[in-house]
Amino acid sequence: MEYQKILNQIEAELTAKQSTGQVASYIPELSKISSKKLGVHLYCINSGHYNFGDSTERFSIQSISKVFALTKAMSLLDDELFERVDVEPSGDPFNSLVQLEYEQGIPRNPFINAGALVISDILISLLDNPKEDFLRFIQSIAHNDSIKINNEVYESEKKYSHRNAALLNLMKSFRNIKNDIEVVLDFYIFQCAIEMSCEELSIAFMIYANQGKTLSDGHQVLAPRKIKRINAIMQTCGFYDEAGEFSFRVGLPGKSGVGGGIAAIHPGQYTVTVWSPPLNPKGNSELGMYALERLTTLTGLSIF
Ligand code: DON
Repeated sequence: MEYQKILNQIEAELTAKQSTGQVASYIPELSKISSKKLGVHLYCINSGHYNFGDSTERFSIQSISKVFALTKAMSLLDDELFERVDVEPSGDPFNSLVQLEYEQGIPRNPFINAGALVISDILISLLDNPKEDFLRFIQSIAHNDSIKINNEVYESEKKYSHRNAALLNLMKSFRNIKNDIEVVLDFYIFQCAIEMSCEELSIAFMIYANQGKTLSDGHQVLAPRKIKRINAIMQTCGFYDEAGEFSFRVGLPGKSGVGGGIAAIHPGQYTVTVWSPPLNPKGNSELGMYALERLTTLTGLSIF
Protein backbone atom coordinates (compact mmCIF):
# COMPACT_ATOMS: atom_id res chain seq x y z
CA MET A 1 0.00 0.00 0.00
CA GLU A 2 1.35 3.42 -0.95
CA TYR A 3 0.61 5.04 2.38
CA GLN A 4 2.87 8.08 1.93
CA LYS A 5 1.26 8.94 -1.40
CA ILE A 6 -2.19 8.65 0.16
CA LEU A 7 -1.16 10.80 3.15
CA ASN A 8 0.22 13.44 0.78
CA GLN A 9 -3.13 13.56 -0.99
CA ILE A 10 -4.95 13.89 2.35
CA GLU A 11 -2.59 16.70 3.37
CA ALA A 12 -3.38 18.59 0.17
CA GLU A 13 -7.12 18.14 0.70
CA LEU A 14 -6.94 19.24 4.35
CA THR A 15 -4.89 22.34 3.55
CA ALA A 16 -7.57 23.43 1.10
CA LYS A 17 -10.40 22.77 3.58
CA GLN A 18 -11.82 25.41 5.95
CA SER A 19 -12.51 24.02 9.39
CA THR A 20 -15.74 25.21 11.02
CA GLY A 21 -14.73 23.74 14.39
CA GLN A 22 -13.69 25.48 17.61
CA VAL A 23 -10.57 24.85 19.67
CA ALA A 24 -11.63 23.67 23.18
CA SER A 25 -11.82 26.59 25.60
CA TYR A 26 -13.53 25.14 28.70
CA ILE A 27 -9.99 24.20 29.79
CA PRO A 28 -8.54 27.72 29.20
CA GLU A 29 -4.97 26.55 28.57
CA LEU A 30 -6.10 24.44 25.59
CA SER A 31 -7.51 27.51 23.82
CA LYS A 32 -3.96 28.88 23.44
CA ILE A 33 -3.07 26.23 20.85
CA SER A 34 -3.08 27.35 17.22
CA SER A 35 -6.11 26.12 15.29
CA LYS A 36 -3.78 25.64 12.30
CA LYS A 37 -1.82 22.76 13.80
CA LEU A 38 -2.18 19.66 11.69
CA GLY A 39 -0.31 16.39 11.82
CA VAL A 40 -0.76 12.73 10.90
CA HIS A 41 1.38 9.70 11.69
CA LEU A 42 0.64 6.21 10.38
CA TYR A 43 2.62 3.24 11.72
CA CYS A 44 2.25 0.13 9.58
CA ILE A 45 3.03 -3.28 11.10
CA ASN A 46 4.78 -4.45 7.93
CA SER A 47 6.28 -1.32 6.44
CA GLY A 48 6.98 1.22 9.19
CA HIS A 49 6.33 4.95 9.51
CA TYR A 50 4.54 7.52 7.32
CA ASN A 51 3.58 11.07 8.28
CA PHE A 52 3.05 14.71 7.43
CA GLY A 53 2.75 18.10 9.13
CA ASP A 54 3.09 18.62 12.89
CA SER A 55 3.32 14.90 13.57
CA THR A 56 6.23 15.10 16.05
CA GLU A 57 4.89 18.02 18.11
CA ARG A 58 3.37 17.06 21.44
CA PHE A 59 -0.22 17.99 22.32
CA SER A 60 -2.59 17.33 25.22
CA ILE A 61 -3.86 13.77 24.81
CA GLN A 62 -6.86 14.41 27.14
CA SER A 63 -9.43 11.61 26.71
CA ILE A 64 -7.11 9.45 24.60
CA SER A 65 -5.50 8.69 27.99
CA LYS A 66 -8.72 6.82 28.92
CA VAL A 67 -7.66 3.95 26.63
CA PHE A 68 -4.32 3.62 28.43
CA ALA A 69 -6.02 3.81 31.84
CA LEU A 70 -8.48 1.07 30.89
CA THR A 71 -5.59 -1.04 29.57
CA LYS A 72 -3.68 -0.69 32.85
CA ALA A 73 -6.80 -1.50 34.90
CA MET A 74 -7.56 -4.56 32.74
CA SER A 75 -3.99 -5.78 33.25
CA LEU A 76 -4.66 -5.78 37.01
CA LEU A 77 -8.27 -7.02 37.13
CA ASP A 78 -10.47 -9.50 35.31
CA ASP A 79 -14.25 -9.43 34.76
CA GLU A 80 -14.93 -7.90 38.19
CA LEU A 81 -13.87 -4.57 36.63
CA PHE A 82 -17.08 -4.55 34.59
CA GLU A 83 -19.25 -4.74 37.69
CA ARG A 84 -18.35 -1.08 38.28
CA VAL A 85 -18.45 0.21 34.71
CA ASP A 86 -20.56 -1.06 31.80
CA VAL A 87 -19.63 -1.43 28.12
CA GLU A 88 -22.60 0.17 26.37
CA PRO A 89 -22.48 3.30 24.19
CA SER A 90 -24.00 6.21 26.07
CA GLY A 91 -25.40 8.27 23.19
CA ASP A 92 -24.82 11.27 25.46
CA PRO A 93 -22.06 13.91 25.63
CA PHE A 94 -18.78 12.83 27.26
CA ASN A 95 -19.39 14.82 30.46
CA SER A 96 -23.10 14.09 30.89
CA LEU A 97 -24.59 13.40 34.32
CA VAL A 98 -28.10 12.29 33.39
CA GLN A 99 -27.78 8.52 32.90
CA LEU A 100 -25.84 8.09 36.13
CA GLU A 101 -28.82 9.00 38.27
CA TYR A 102 -31.20 6.39 36.91
CA GLU A 103 -28.48 3.77 36.39
CA GLN A 104 -27.45 3.91 40.05
CA GLY A 105 -23.96 5.30 39.64
CA ILE A 106 -22.73 2.67 37.13
CA PRO A 107 -21.30 4.56 34.11
CA ARG A 108 -22.24 3.34 30.64
CA ASN A 109 -18.63 2.76 29.56
CA PRO A 110 -14.99 3.51 30.51
CA PHE A 111 -14.56 6.28 27.89
CA ILE A 112 -17.19 8.77 29.04
CA ASN A 113 -15.89 10.93 31.89
CA ALA A 114 -17.91 9.09 34.55
CA GLY A 115 -16.47 5.73 33.48
CA ALA A 116 -12.93 7.07 33.25
CA LEU A 117 -13.28 8.46 36.79
CA VAL A 118 -14.22 4.98 38.05
CA ILE A 119 -11.13 3.59 36.28
CA SER A 120 -9.03 6.33 37.96
CA ASP A 121 -10.48 5.27 41.32
CA ILE A 122 -9.56 1.63 40.60
CA LEU A 123 -5.98 2.55 39.60
CA ILE A 124 -5.54 4.63 42.75
CA SER A 125 -6.60 1.62 44.84
CA LEU A 126 -4.32 -0.81 43.00
CA LEU A 127 -1.13 1.10 42.12
CA ASP A 128 1.60 1.88 44.68
CA ASN A 129 2.39 5.29 43.17
CA PRO A 130 -0.57 5.92 40.84
CA LYS A 131 0.73 8.92 38.88
CA GLU A 132 4.31 7.67 38.48
CA ASP A 133 3.24 4.09 37.73
CA PHE A 134 0.69 5.20 35.14
CA LEU A 135 3.09 7.58 33.40
CA ARG A 136 5.75 4.86 33.37
CA PHE A 137 3.25 2.47 31.77
CA ILE A 138 2.65 4.92 28.91
CA GLN A 139 6.38 5.58 28.56
CA SER A 140 7.01 1.83 28.32
CA ILE A 141 4.47 1.12 25.57
CA ALA A 142 5.60 4.25 23.68
CA HIS A 143 9.29 3.34 24.22
CA ASN A 144 9.94 6.90 25.31
CA ASP A 145 10.94 7.95 28.83
CA SER A 146 10.60 11.66 28.10
CA ILE A 147 6.76 11.63 27.92
CA LYS A 148 5.33 13.78 30.72
CA ILE A 149 2.43 16.01 31.68
CA ASN A 150 1.94 19.65 30.76
CA ASN A 151 1.74 21.45 34.11
CA GLU A 152 -0.14 24.49 32.76
CA VAL A 153 -2.88 22.27 31.32
CA TYR A 154 -3.04 20.31 34.58
CA GLU A 155 -3.39 23.50 36.68
CA SER A 156 -5.87 24.96 34.19
CA GLU A 157 -8.21 21.94 34.29
CA LYS A 158 -7.96 21.82 38.11
CA LYS A 159 -9.63 25.25 38.24
CA TYR A 160 -12.50 24.21 35.96
CA SER A 161 -13.36 20.67 37.04
CA HIS A 162 -16.71 21.23 38.73
CA ARG A 163 -18.59 18.92 36.41
CA ASN A 164 -16.15 16.04 36.92
CA ALA A 165 -16.38 16.70 40.68
CA ALA A 166 -20.18 16.47 40.35
CA LEU A 167 -19.88 13.12 38.55
CA LEU A 168 -17.61 11.85 41.32
CA ASN A 169 -19.95 13.04 44.08
CA LEU A 170 -22.94 11.39 42.43
CA MET A 171 -21.07 8.10 41.98
CA LYS A 172 -19.73 8.27 45.53
CA SER A 173 -23.35 8.56 46.78
CA PHE A 174 -23.97 5.21 45.01
CA ARG A 175 -20.76 3.80 46.60
CA ASN A 176 -19.04 3.36 43.23
CA ILE A 177 -16.07 5.59 44.21
CA LYS A 178 -13.89 4.20 47.00
CA ASN A 179 -11.18 6.84 47.39
CA ASP A 180 -11.40 10.55 48.29
CA ILE A 181 -13.02 12.60 45.57
CA GLU A 182 -10.15 15.11 45.52
CA VAL A 183 -7.57 12.35 45.07
CA VAL A 184 -9.49 10.73 42.19
CA LEU A 185 -10.08 14.06 40.47
CA ASP A 186 -6.39 14.95 40.77
CA PHE A 187 -5.28 11.65 39.21
CA TYR A 188 -7.82 11.96 36.39
CA ILE A 189 -6.72 15.52 35.54
CA PHE A 190 -3.09 14.36 35.66
CA GLN A 191 -3.71 11.58 33.13
CA CYS A 192 -5.58 13.95 30.79
CA ALA A 193 -2.68 16.47 30.93
CA ILE A 194 -0.15 14.01 29.48
CA GLU A 195 1.35 15.27 26.22
CA MET A 196 2.32 13.08 23.28
CA SER A 197 2.89 13.56 19.57
CA CYS A 198 1.05 11.77 16.76
CA GLU A 199 4.17 9.64 16.29
CA GLU A 200 4.36 8.70 19.98
CA LEU A 201 0.64 7.87 20.15
CA SER A 202 0.88 5.71 17.04
CA ILE A 203 3.74 3.74 18.61
CA ALA A 204 1.88 3.34 21.92
CA PHE A 205 -1.34 2.29 20.16
CA MET A 206 0.47 -0.52 18.35
CA ILE A 207 -0.46 -2.91 21.19
CA TYR A 208 -4.12 -2.60 20.09
CA ALA A 209 -3.30 -3.37 16.45
CA ASN A 210 -0.80 -6.12 17.26
CA GLN A 211 -2.74 -8.48 19.58
CA GLY A 212 -1.40 -6.85 22.75
CA LYS A 213 2.29 -6.89 21.79
CA THR A 214 4.65 -3.98 21.21
CA LEU A 215 6.17 -4.10 17.75
CA SER A 216 9.76 -3.23 18.58
CA ASP A 217 10.47 -5.87 21.25
CA GLY A 218 7.40 -8.14 20.99
CA HIS A 219 6.58 -7.66 24.69
CA GLN A 220 3.07 -8.97 25.51
CA VAL A 221 1.49 -6.05 27.40
CA LEU A 222 -2.04 -7.47 27.58
CA ALA A 223 -3.66 -10.78 26.56
CA PRO A 224 -5.23 -10.82 23.06
CA ARG A 225 -8.71 -11.57 24.51
CA LYS A 226 -8.52 -8.35 26.53
CA ILE A 227 -7.20 -6.30 23.60
CA LYS A 228 -10.18 -7.56 21.56
CA ARG A 229 -12.49 -6.13 24.22
CA ILE A 230 -10.71 -2.74 24.36
CA ASN A 231 -10.94 -2.46 20.57
CA ALA A 232 -14.65 -3.28 20.74
CA ILE A 233 -15.19 -0.53 23.32
CA MET A 234 -13.20 1.93 21.16
CA GLN A 235 -15.40 1.03 18.20
CA THR A 236 -18.69 1.45 20.06
CA CYS A 237 -17.84 4.17 22.61
CA GLY A 238 -14.65 5.96 21.48
CA PHE A 239 -16.45 9.05 20.17
CA TYR A 240 -19.27 9.51 22.71
CA ASP A 241 -22.51 10.53 21.00
CA GLU A 242 -20.71 10.47 17.66
CA ALA A 243 -19.49 6.85 17.88
CA GLY A 244 -22.04 5.75 15.28
CA GLU A 245 -21.05 8.53 12.90
CA PHE A 246 -17.34 7.72 13.30
CA SER A 247 -18.02 4.03 12.54
CA PHE A 248 -20.17 5.02 9.58
CA ARG A 249 -17.64 7.41 8.07
CA VAL A 250 -14.29 5.91 9.11
CA GLY A 251 -14.83 2.28 10.11
CA LEU A 252 -11.95 1.87 12.57
CA PRO A 253 -11.79 1.56 16.39
CA GLY A 254 -10.38 4.76 17.84
CA LYS A 255 -10.41 7.37 20.58
CA SER A 256 -10.56 11.15 20.51
CA GLY A 257 -9.53 13.86 22.95
CA VAL A 258 -10.48 17.53 23.33
CA GLY A 259 -6.84 18.46 22.59
CA GLY A 260 -7.79 17.67 18.97
CA GLY A 261 -6.15 14.26 18.72
CA ILE A 262 -7.65 11.03 17.40
CA ALA A 263 -5.80 7.72 17.60
CA ALA A 264 -7.22 4.82 15.60
CA ILE A 265 -6.18 1.32 14.66
CA HIS A 266 -6.66 -1.19 11.90
CA PRO A 267 -6.08 -4.54 13.68
CA GLY A 268 -3.23 -6.47 12.08
CA GLN A 269 -2.43 -3.56 9.74
CA TYR A 270 -1.58 -0.19 11.26
CA THR A 271 -2.13 2.52 13.85
CA VAL A 272 -2.82 6.11 12.84
CA THR A 273 -2.97 9.33 14.84
CA VAL A 274 -4.29 12.68 13.65
CA TRP A 275 -4.00 16.06 15.39
CA SER A 276 -6.06 19.11 14.46
CA PRO A 277 -7.34 21.20 17.42
CA PRO A 278 -10.68 22.62 16.12
CA LEU A 279 -13.48 20.39 17.44
CA ASN A 280 -16.93 19.74 16.02
CA PRO A 281 -19.97 20.26 18.30
CA LYS A 282 -19.61 16.71 19.69
CA GLY A 283 -16.06 17.43 20.90
CA ASN A 284 -14.18 15.45 18.24
CA SER A 285 -11.52 16.87 15.89
CA GLU A 286 -13.34 17.97 12.76
CA LEU A 287 -10.44 17.66 10.31
CA GLY A 288 -9.18 14.60 12.16
CA MET A 289 -12.38 12.74 11.36
CA TYR A 290 -12.23 13.92 7.76
CA ALA A 291 -8.59 12.77 7.40
CA LEU A 292 -9.40 9.30 8.72
CA GLU A 293 -12.49 9.03 6.52
CA ARG A 294 -10.30 9.81 3.50
CA LEU A 295 -7.64 7.32 4.66
CA THR A 296 -10.04 4.37 4.82
CA THR A 297 -11.69 5.47 1.56
CA LEU A 298 -8.47 5.97 -0.42
CA THR A 299 -6.90 2.74 0.87
CA GLY A 300 -10.17 0.84 0.38
CA LEU A 301 -9.45 -0.78 3.77
CA SER A 302 -11.40 -0.56 7.01
CA ILE A 303 -12.51 -3.21 9.45
CA PHE A 304 -15.84 -3.44 7.61
O1 DON B 1 -12.57 15.77 31.63
C1 DON B 1 -12.51 16.51 30.64
O2 DON B 1 -13.45 17.22 30.30
C2 DON B 1 -11.22 16.52 29.83
N1 DON B 1 -10.09 16.39 30.68
C3 DON B 1 -11.20 15.39 28.81
C4 DON B 1 -12.39 15.39 27.89
C5 DON B 1 -12.12 14.82 26.54
O3 DON B 1 -11.02 14.79 26.03
C6 DON B 1 -13.32 14.40 25.78
N2 DON B 1 -12.96 14.07 24.41
N3 DON B 1 -13.34 14.24 23.37
